[in-house]
Amino acid sequence: MCGIVGYIGHRDAAGLLLNGLRRLEYRGYDSAGIAVLNGGLKMFKQKGSVDELRRSLHDAGNPLNGATIGIGHTRWATHGDPSDRNAHPHVSSDGRIALIHNGIIENYPAIKKELISKGVHFSSDTDSEVLVHLIESIWSDNPGMALEAAVRSALYHVEGAYGLCVISEREPDSIVVARKGSPLVIGIGEGEYYIASDAAPIVEHTKKVVYLADGEMAVVTRNDGFAIKTIENIAREKHVSELEFELAEIEKGGFEHFMLKEIFEQPKVLQDVMRGRVRLDEGQVRLGGIEDYLDRLKLSSRVIICACGTSWHAGLIGEYLIEEFARIPVEVDYASEFRYRNPVITRDDVVIVISQSGETADTLAALRLAREKGALVMGICNVVGSTIARETLCGIYTHAGPEVGVASTKAFTAQVTVLYLLALTLGKGRTMSRNELKLYLKELNGIPEKVERILKQNDLILEIAKNYKDAGNFLYLGRGYNFPVALEGALKLKEISYIHAEGYPAAEMKHGPIALIDQDMPVIFIATRDNSYAKVLSNIEEVRSRKGKVIAIANHGDDEIGRLADHVIYIPPASAPVTPLLSVIPLQLLSYHIATLRGCNVDRPRNLAKSVTVE
Ligand code: G6P
Repeated sequence: MCGIVGYIGHRDAAGLLLNGLRRLEYRGYDSAGIAVLNGGLKMFKQKGSVDELRRSLHDAGNPLNGATIGIGHTRWATHGDPSDRNAHPHVSSDGRIALIHNGIIENYPAIKKELISKGVHFSSDTDSEVLVHLIESIWSDNPGMALEAAVRSALYHVEGAYGLCVISEREPDSIVVARKGSPLVIGIGEGEYYIASDAAPIVEHTKKVVYLADGEMAVVTRNDGFAIKTIENIAREKHVSELEFELAEIEKGGFEHFMLKEIFEQPKVLQDVMRGRVRLDEGQVRLGGIEDYLDRLKLSSRVIICACGTSWHAGLIGEYLIEEFARIPVEVDYASEFRYRNPVITRDDVVIVISQSGETADTLAALRLAREKGALVMGICNVVGSTIARETLCGIYTHAGPEVGVASTKAFTAQVTVLYLLALTLGKGRTMSRNELKLYLKELNGIPEKVERILKQNDLILEIAKNYKDAGNFLYLGRGYNFPVALEGALKLKEISYIHAEGYPAAEMKHGPIALIDQDMPVIFIATRDNSYAKVLSNIEEVRSRKGKVIAIANHGDDEIGRLADHVIYIPPASAPVTPLLSVIPLQLLSYHIATLRGCNVDRPRNLAKSVTVE
C-alpha cells in the first residue's frame, strides 16, 4: 500500500526523504509528496513517480532543501483517483499542520460531513484528509494542547486502519506517529531518527530499529529521542531490534529490474532457506521457530492454511506436501474468505498463515480470528519482525531477503521450500522413516543447482517470449503439484504484462476452457514426468487438434513432447513434490520477458502494491 517516511535530525531532510520514498515505491506509486518544516511548513506533492517528484523539485529550485525535519509519502490510491490533489501530505486549512497516512479511515464520510458543517474546506477526495482537519479543529478548540494530544484525541474519533505521521509549525522539533493496522518502524541513528513503513529506507542509515505495535503512538523529537505510548496514553517500553539485511540486498546489483535479480537469486535463496536447518547426513530437519510446539503440531487434527495472492499458491502446494508427507488433512483458504465466513475452527486445529510481507491485512485478520478461536497459529513470513511474524505463536522465516519487485518470485520458492521442510518435519516419526526423510532431503538439496541450470536458458525463454508478446490471452495447465504452479504462472503474467491469463487443473480444460482454444490461444502445459504425465499429453493433443499454440515445460530427455509442442522449455527431472521449485522458474522468466517486450514496468505494475495493508 502507501509508503511513509519521516526524518528528524541534522541533515537535509528533503534529500533523505526522496531517497527513502524511492525505496518504498514498490508499496505504491501513483503519486508522491513531501512536507518539511523550515521556518514554516513547506509542501510539494504531485501525481506520478518519486523520480518525477525529484525532477519537479529540482526544476522548482529545490524549495524544500535546508530543512532537517520532514515527512514523505508515496501513494496507492484507495479513495480518490491518483492526482496532484489527492497526493499526500494533506495540510490543514491554516497551512500549519501536515499529515501522511497509510490505511483507510472507514468512518470518514461522517467526520467529513461534520467538519464541512463547521465550515472546513476539503481539497482532496481522500479519506485521509479528514484526519488533518480533525486535528486542526481539536487543536483550535484546545490551544494549549500538545500536538501529540491533539492527534490522540483525533484518533479516538476514527474507525479503520492507519499508519500516520504528523508535523506542525507549532512544534517544529517533533514528529507524531501512530499505528493501527498499517506498519511503522522507527530507525535510531546518531542524533537523528527515521520513520518508515518498513525498514528498506532505514537500513542504509542505521540497523537499530523499533517496531511500533498496533495501537501505539510515538513522539519523535530532535533532542529527546522518542517516547512510545499506546493511543490510550499508557507508556510503553520497547525493545530495540537489529536489522538483519544489508543495503546491497535492496539494490539491483547490475540487473535491469529487481524482478529479474530476484528470479536469479533463487538458487542462493533456496540454500539460505535450508542453511542451518537441514542436516543431510543425519536425515534431520531443525526448525527452531516451531520446535517448542512440534508435539502439538504433529497431533493436530487438521491444518488450515490462509494466505493471499502468490502466498496462497504456495499454500496450495503446502496442502499437497503436508497431506503426502505427514498424512494430516489440510485445507487452504483465501484469508479474505476465511475471515468473513464464520469458519469452524477448533483447538485441535493448526492455522498456518503465509505472507511474504507479514503485513497483508486479510491474512493478519485471519490470524487474529484463528487465535481468538483457540487454534495454534503459525506463521511463514519473509519480513523479519513484521506484524504477522510477531503475532503468531510460532513460525518459520523464509529468509529470502528483501523482495522489492511487486510480482513475487523468490519469496514463492522460499515459501514452498519451507513448506517442504515443515511437511517432512511433521511426517517424521509419524509416517516417514529416517531413511525416507534422508532421501527427500537429498532431493531438495539438489534443487538449487537444478534451478541454476534452468536460469541458463534465459535467452531461449526470451526468444519464445517474442512469439507471444502480442497475445491477448493465455491458458496455463498443470496437474498435481503443477496445478498451483499453473495458477502462479498465470498470475505472474497478468500482474506484469496485463495479458489476461488463467490457470486451470489440466483435466478441467474439457469442462469449459477448451471452448476458448483456437489459433490465437497460447496454452502453457506443465508436463513433467509424473503419474499424470500421459494424461497431460492427451490434453496437449486436444489443444493441438483445435490449433492452439502449445508451450510445454517438460523434463530433459522427453523427445515425445518436442513433436507435440510448438516450444518446449526443458527442466531437469525431479520427484513430484520438489517439481514446483523447478517448473515455476521458466514461467517467471517467460512473464518477465513478455512484459518487458511489451514495455511494461515489471517492478511496479499498474494498480498493484507489494504490501496490501487494506482490505
Ligand atoms: C499483493 C502482492 C502479491 C502478494 C500478495 C500477498 O497482492 O502484489 O505479490 O502475493 O499481496 O502478499 P503477502 O505479503 O501476504 O505474501
